[in-house]
Amino acid sequence: MQAFEHRLQQEQQQRQDQGLERCLSTVQAAGQGKIVSNRHAFLNLAGNDYLGLGGNQELVAEFYKNLAPENCFELYGPGSGASRLMTGNHTGYQTLETKLAALYGTEKALIFNSGYHANIGLLPALAGKDDLIIADKLCHASLIDGMRLCRAKIIRYPHLDYDCIEGLLGKYRESRKTIFIVSESIFSMDGDCADVALLTRLKEQYNAVLYLDEAHAVGVRGKQGLGLAEEQGVMEQVDLLVGTFGKAWAGQGAFVACNKTIYDHLINTVRSLIFTTALPMVNVHWLNFLLPKIAAMAEQRKTLLHNARLLRKGLLEQGLVSEGDSQIVPVLIGEAHRAAAVAEQLRKQGYWINAIRPPTVPQGSSRLRLSVTLDCTPEDLTRLPQIIAETAAAL
Ligand SMILES: Cc1ncc(COP(=O)(O)O)c(C=O)c1O
Repeated sequence: MQAFEHRLQQEQQQRQDQGLERCLSTVQAAGQGKIVSNRHAFLNLAGNDYLGLGGNQELVAEFYKNLAPENCFELYGPGSGASRLMTGNHTGYQTLETKLAALYGTEKALIFNSGYHANIGLLPALAGKDDLIIADKLCHASLIDGMRLCRAKIIRYPHLDYDCIEGLLGKYRESRKTIFIVSESIFSMDGDCADVALLTRLKEQYNAVLYLDEAHAVGVRGKQGLGLAEEQGVMEQVDLLVGTFGKAWAGQGAFVACNKTIYDHLINTVRSLIFTTALPMVNVHWLNFLLPKIAAMAEQRKTLLHNARLLRKGLLEQGLVSEGDSQIVPVLIGEAHRAAAVAEQLRKQGYWINAIRPPTVPQGSSRLRLSVTLDCTPEDLTRLPQIIAETAAAL
């Protein structure tokens, strides 16, 4: 035990030396885009409550007021008591899955406990040893972990390199039974967008299966907030469309929209669905409550993108940002210690901005990940680029 602890302490020391140490800060949501930590209030630019729904106290009060007595939190306690395949499959699930499938125009939708559960479960359940998965190099850790649990051959292609995808599809089409193309739609740490229409054309041409993680696009893109595939008019061509509820939906969980054949296979085989306790009822009712509201928020989605563009324009003028067009705006700093120091100085000025460092992003590309929500005012976003530029220059 002593030797083991010594090893862990050494590893922790190494992380500290490299500026890669992580810690848990205690924070409290204070509504309207503000969070409080250590009795100080900060403008939150690190969360994913993109539509400001989680921090909308009136909306939350309306939800609890209208919660039917039979669904009432106080009557049941927060837990669901069992896996969905045992007794955890409460009524809210069926309502939500039916409504999601109708919105996405698919035969089925299947809810998971989180995006992480969905992404570590889906690929191992679907891809076998004779298959190939080709995935974007910058895919989220949950997708990477899902691939690690697979017996299929895995190839990661350079970020958004469609020529490379086509080359791989051509090279392996004959020798591999099923080929999966795996991509995010809005990339979580880079804020740039995949050409989903092109991905669907490639998957049709080479008879592949398209798995699209829309975690950061559901709620915020497309007329009804269904994601980037909706915006690009190709939703029907996506075979597995994953959305998460923990971000714009201000809840907990995730879903995959797919056909019935895939769904039937999934409920029999996905370990991260079968071997885990179902979501709390109150959470699923919250998602049902929000579904029609989110679908109707087209104007708010426009405002969000407009505000994000405002921030990006200001940062571009300061030479601080690269291409992209979404509510996720990364400011590349480079070295991890420096990124952490810039974030710390910004915190002293009232901004809650996190430094994203390896292994979340590649070595040498540590960054500030600014995530714009509807709670950020245009004034906040106009002021911020100069503040960041001055703070970074002073270090
Ligand atoms: C692209 C992507 N997929 C999946 C997830 C995991 O979702 P969840 O937080 O619901 O586990 C995240 C979370 O940040 C993500 O960015």
